[in-house]
Amino acid sequence: SKTFKIAVIPGDGIGPEVINEGIKVLQKVAEQSDFQFEFTHFPWGCEYYVEHGKMMADDGIEQLKSFDAIYLGAVGYPGVPDHISLWDLLLKIRKEFDQYVNIRPITLLKGAPCPLKNVKREDIDMLFIRENSEGEYAGAGDWLFKGKPEEVVLQTGVFSRKGTERIIRYAFETAQKMKKSVTSISKGNALNYSMVFWDQVFEEVSRDYPDVPTYSYLVDAASMFMITQPKRFEVVVTSNLFGDILTDLGAALAGGLGLAAGANINPERAYPSMFEPIHGSAPDIAGKGLANPLAAIWSASQMLDFFGYEQQGRMVLDAIEQLLVEKEVLTPDMGGTASTSEVGDRVVELLNNR
Ligand code: NAD
Ligand code: IPM
Ligand code: MN
Repeated sequence: SKTFKIAVIPGDGIGPEVINEGIKVLQKVAEQSDFQFEFTHFPWGCEYYVEHGKMMADDGIEQLKSFDAIYLGAVGYPGVPDHISLWDLLLKIRKEFDQYVNIRPITLLKGAPCPLKNVKREDIDMLFIRENSEGEYAGAGDWLFKGKPEEVVLQTGVFSRKGTERIIRYAFETAQKMKKSVTSISKGNALNYSMVFWDQVFEEVSRDYPDVPTYSYLVDAASMFMITQPKRFEVVVTSNLFGDILTDLGAALAGGLGLAAGANINPERAYPSMFEPIHGSAPDIAGKGLANPLAAIWSASQMLDFFGYEQQGRMVLDAIEQLLVEKEVLTPDMGGTASTSEVGDRVVELLNNR
C-alpha cells in the first residue's frame, strides 16, 4: 500500500506541541485506511539557529525535495530577529518550492465561538486563496543612507504577469468547481502600479470564466464587510500581504487563531507542498500545554485532501466539529480547561467511532 513521506518541521514555541497532536491524528487515520505515513523530523528553527548560526541545514531545501509533503508548526521566537528566522526557513521553503497558492479556509464550524452577533453560522464560509510567492513579500528593497538624516528604505511589491495570473486563475478554477463566486481584494486607488495591474489581470482572467460570478473590493472596505456582511465572500483571491492580514481577521471570525489552518500548495506538484496552522509560535503560552492543536489538525486534514483522500480529510474535519459541539474537551482559548494533548486525544477518539 501507498506510503506518504512527510517531512515534519515542528519549529518554535507551540509549534512542536500542536504538530505532535496532528501526527497522532494522521497516524490514526492511516491505521483505518489503506495507506501509511512515514514521518521524518527536522529540528530546524530558532534553537537550531542559536546553536548553529543558521535556521536550517545548508542543504535543507535539497533534503526536503524528496518528500510528499511538509508539515510545519511555527517559526519565530524572541531572541532571533523575526526577519531572519522567517526568511531563512518558512518563507524560504514557500519560495524555493514555488508554493504560490496559500489556501486558508475561513469556515465557522458548528460549536466554534464567533464574536459576531446576528450572523448565521453558515454565512461565514470563505475560502481565501492568498498569493504566496511574490507581491509585498518579494524581498525586494533597499536601505539607503543608513543612520543618516536622509535615510530612506524601500520595500518593493513585485507583481509579475505570470505570478498574478496564475493565482487568479487558480481561484477561478476552484470557484468554478465549487459553483461559487470569486471576490478579488485589492487597492487600486492608492497602489497605482501593483493593484491597478492586479485589477486588470483579474478582469482579463474573469472573461475565461463567464459562469463564475465576480466581485471586487478595496481592501479597506473588504475588512469592514468581512465583519458586517461575511456572507458576501465565497472564494476570495488577494495579494500576499493583504491575504496575511485578512486571514488573521477571518480566523477571529471563525473561532480564533487556534482553529485556523492553511496549505501552501505547489499545484504543479513539482515540489512538496507544506501544511501549517496560520498562527505563530505564541511565545506567551508556549511550553504550558495551553496551545490549541485544532488548527494544526485541520491543516493535517488539508494534507489528506491534497493526497486525494478527501473522505478521510472530511472525517478529520467532522471530528473537529463534533469536539467543538460537545464543548467538553477544549483548550482555554476556546473557553475550556483541557490541555493540548487532551484535545488531540479526543479527536483521535472521535475518529475511532467513524
Ligand atoms: P501568534 O499567532 O503566535 O500569536 C498571537 C496570539 O494568538 C497570542 O496571544 C497567542 O497565544 C494566540 N495563539 C496563537 N496560536 C494559538 C493556539 N494554537 N492556541 C491558543 N492560542 C493561540 O502571533 P505573534 O505573537 O504575532 O507571533 C509570534 C511569533 O510567531 C513571531 O515570531 C512571528 O513572527 C511568528 N509567526 C510565525 C508564523 C508561522 O510560522 N507560520 C505565523 C505567524 C507568526
Ligand atoms: C503567516 C505568517 C507569515 C506570513 C510570517 C510569519 C512571515 O504570518 O503564515 O500568516 O506573513 O506569511
Ligand atoms: Mn500571518
